[in-house]
Amino acid sequence: MCGIVGYVGQQSALEVVVEGLRRMEYRGYDSAGVAIVNAEGLATDKRAGKLANLEKSLAEVPLPPATAGIGHTRWATHGAPNDVNAHPHVSEHGDVAVVHNGIIENFAELRDELERTGTELVSETDTEVTAHLLSRAYADLPDRPDRLAAAMRVVCRRLEGAFTLVAVHRDHDGTVVGARRSSPLVAGIGTGEYFLASDVAAFIAHTRDALELGEDQVVEIDRERGINITDFDGHPAEGNEYHVDWDAGAAEKGGYAWFMLKEIAEQPAAVADTLRGRLSAGGDIVLDEVRLSEEDLRDVDKIFVIACGTAYHAGLVAKYAIEHWTRIPCEVELASEFRYRDPVLDRSTLVIAISQSGETMDTLKALRHAKEQRARILSICNTNGSTMPRESDAVLYTRAGPEVAVASTKCFLAQITACYLVALYLARVRGVKYGDEVAAIVAQLRGMPALIEQTLATMEPVRELGRDLATAPTVLFLGRHVGYPIALEGALKLKELAYIHAEGFAGGELKHGPIALIDHGTPVVVIVPSPRGRNIMHGKVVNNIQEVRARGGRMIVIAEEGDDAVNAFADLVIRVPVAPTLLAPLLTSVPLQVLACEIADARGNDVDQPRNLAKSVTVE
Ligand code: G6P
Repeated sequence: MCGIVGYVGQQSALEVVVEGLRRMEYRGYDSAGVAIVNAEGLATDKRAGKLANLEKSLAEVPLPPATAGIGHTRWATHGAPNDVNAHPHVSEHGDVAVVHNGIIENFAELRDELERTGTELVSETDTEVTAHLLSRAYADLPDRPDRLAAAMRVVCRRLEGAFTLVAVHRDHDGTVVGARRSSPLVAGIGTGEYFLASDVAAFIAHTRDALELGEDQVVEIDRERGINITDFDGHPAEGNEYHVDWDAGAAEKGGYAWFMLKEIAEQPAAVADTLRGRLSAGGDIVLDEVRLSEEDLRDVDKIFVIACGTAYHAGLVAKYAIEHWTRIPCEVELASEFRYRDPVLDRSTLVIAISQSGETMDTLKALRHAKEQRARILSICNTNGSTMPRESDAVLYTRAGPEVAVASTKCFLAQITACYLVALYLARVRGVKYGDEVAAIVAQLRGMPALIEQTLATMEPVRELGRDLATAPTVLFLGRHVGYPIALEGALKLKELAYIHAEGFAGGELKHGPIALIDHGTPVVVIVPSPRGRNIMHGKVVNNIQEVRARGGRMIVIAEEGDDAVNAFADLVIRVPVAPTLLAPLLTSVPLQVLACEIADARGNDVDQPRNLAKSVTVE
């Protein structure tokens, strides 16, 4: 949500900043803006709409050369996505430019105060107050090398809410200052150059040495004085240094028309990498960071999985395996609802937070609520050093690599895989499964990347179907058992990418209402469970297919190879390889991703950046 970048060094700040924004556009694309500072002062440009609009404007009226600057790509919260509300926001005297991610909760109060004391605000944003406050705080301070950072500290002490701020001042053409509270900010350390950004993707082409800022810290990057970090009171502080182990190429499209297509294709590797090195010779699962003892895990008597969006669906899939393998009751909850319903939590509750970004505010707030109630927290996350892993008792990273398309694909599969590892670990620790049983399931999991690869190789009929369904007004999805969350995920993908009405239902619920939606030709995608698993379930789903068919529905059936019972009732059968029941979602989700992508593409939509969405939602 909102991408921020800052640069100081020897290169053209504008080029570095705009390139950084391009790599972070997935975070929001309602508007984009830049500010540069040089010996002559400050210059800015900002435009509503995608980054391309800003680039066009900069090509028409170039900004003066500079080697320090900041930039922003916005996902609107306060105020419509227009030129005025776009960042950077500049103080009334034009001395300070600020970009912001998050929500300043006391902005109305601060705005009143500024207006009462003579400042006229021009935008509807919460951010603009920070530009004026920073300018005033700067003016009140004596001249000193870190004057801008000191002013930032004064401002931060007055702000409530979640924010990342990055600012420049016209009297400091070698300095960029940033601050963070409950919102991501990383620094990049190059040779004679420094970066600030919401995500390492912004500067990965220049350096892989990163430093994660801690909560309530102010950072100053200065061409001469290097990098300096303090808390909001000015006490020296340290960030968390790390080396990024993927390169810029991993965040490029690599010949695919969309990042989403590339990421769908990367799913075998995402699952394989998430499994790699995670099983010790003794059958133990190796977590990345564990501050929980085996005793703690043995005491667990209830599991809550909390997540949002696609990650929530990964949790819903995982519930079946968690309960089946561990025999511990497991509830999966939308993170945004979790803390408001006063869940019963204590030290023997394990809360598993699933998040690609590790920054989703709803999940983070739910995690913190659980922590306050003394529950144990394990996070499954794709972003090293992000907030959720830092605040958890244990962490298992999904190693899917950077996911750029807003709609999550490879992280979804990696999240399911990671949940399964956690479930197996718990089962082993609690003595519900022997080491060899765990190893046998891990071996099956290790076979899945090849099966996903096979599934990917047979997607042409799905693409054809996608082109055919491009004008469908509605598409329904049905599933049972682990196929039910996959139906939900299939519908979500279609909604977010194609803007088509879509709903996922549990097959058994069909006759309790949804069947009324079936009209002549209504496309219905059914995920059929394996006849070799709980074969009673298979029969029931085949009945569902017939019920829909009898009412004129157009049946699109996803079934495993060799399951011929479905042939007679299907308008189209999409085959997936044979896999163990609980692992089948790693295959059945693939055609649904491809279908949504193809329909969206056929409708002329931007597959990677669907309207109104952002990849990382860092506001509640
Ligand atoms: C947003 C994205 C979804 C994602 C969800 C959770 O809504 O558009 O694709 O599933 O956030 O994100 P997280 O980073 O917590 O997995």
